[in-house]
Amino acid sequence: MRLGFIGTGVITEAIVTGLLRAEAEFGEICLSARNREVSTRLAQASDRVRVCEDNQQIVDESDLLFLAIRPQDAEAVLSSLRFRPQQHVCSLIATIPAEMLESWAGTDLRIFRAIPLPSVAALGGVTALFPSDPLGASLFGQLGTAVDARTIAEFDAFAISSALMGTYFGILESAAGWMSRCGIENEDAKSYLDAVFLGLARTSSDLGASSYAELRQEHSTPGGLNEQMFDVFASSGGTEALSKALDTVARRVHTARTQEG
Ligand SMILES: NC(=O)c1ccc[n+]([C@@H]2O[C@H](COP(=O)([O-])OP(=O)(O)OC[C@H]3O[C@@H](n4cnc5c(N)ncnc54)[C@H](OP(=O)(O)O)[C@@H]3O)[C@@H](O)[C@H]2O)c1
Repeated sequence: MRLGFIGTGVITEAIVTGLLRAEAEFGEICLSARNREVSTRLAQASDRVRVCEDNQQIVDESDLLFLAIRPQDAEAVLSSLRFRPQQHVCSLIATIPAEMLESWAGTDLRIFRAIPLPSVAALGGVTALFPSDPLGASLFGQLGTAVDARTIAEFDAFAISSALMGTYFGILESAAGWMSRCGIENEDAKSYLDAVFLGLARTSSDLGASSYAELRQEHSTPGGLNEQMFDVFASSGGTEALSKALDTVARRVHTARTQEG
């Protein structure tokens, strides 16, 4: 089985790195030359990975074709290529509905969308898929977990909540900055916070707690520092700001679906 990638950037590098690390079963991976630095690096990592100078050749030769270009480049790239009717395609492109991709491709495709996260490189990803696709589930399952969304609305909700990645690191950035103003070296602050949050993620998934509310209570001694921290955060608008951010991103995703789909 030959896997093709149009767009060799951050997420393609993560997926290909993960597939190689997992020793996943595939015959060959064909990568588009752009980005040259990334495609060269990946081709050097395995003789099963090669760089194709011609995007059309990748489309023609792929059993499963991944679209991993930026949303703003998608129309120009897809409309310049010829696809086979019912060609098997996995779109990683955020916000663009499958119907729009098919209209740019000029034919009906056997298309599913996926939201891999950079952690697929370390086989610790969780990838939402819609509609379900056995080959997609098998490949992404080897890079962590694959989750089938039952509806496009569910898929959008996974996409919107996965957009919290930057916020997660932004919160840690603020906390590390605060620690450094207390005299702790940046590197030490980062190591400390990494360990705290890794431990919390493990606790959350290992202990089988039924809700985050339960975990928050378990991690907040009545009258203690954790309780005070969350109370001040919430009463200062922290939780409201989070809801507003989720709603705003949701509006953008839903508008893209209803206007372009
Ligand atoms: N990063 C993530 O965590 C993530 C997760 C899930 C989904 N996605 C989606 O995956 C897509 C790619 O994201 P990314 O973060 O990997 O972006 P990226 O790093 O910017 O990669 C996109 C790549 O497409 C290349 N490209 C542009 N025009 C091309 C063309 N005509 N032919 C072949 N390649 C071309 C770019 O090359 P140049 O560098 O030379 O311009 C770039 O290397 C986006 O639609 C994004 O929404 C990303």
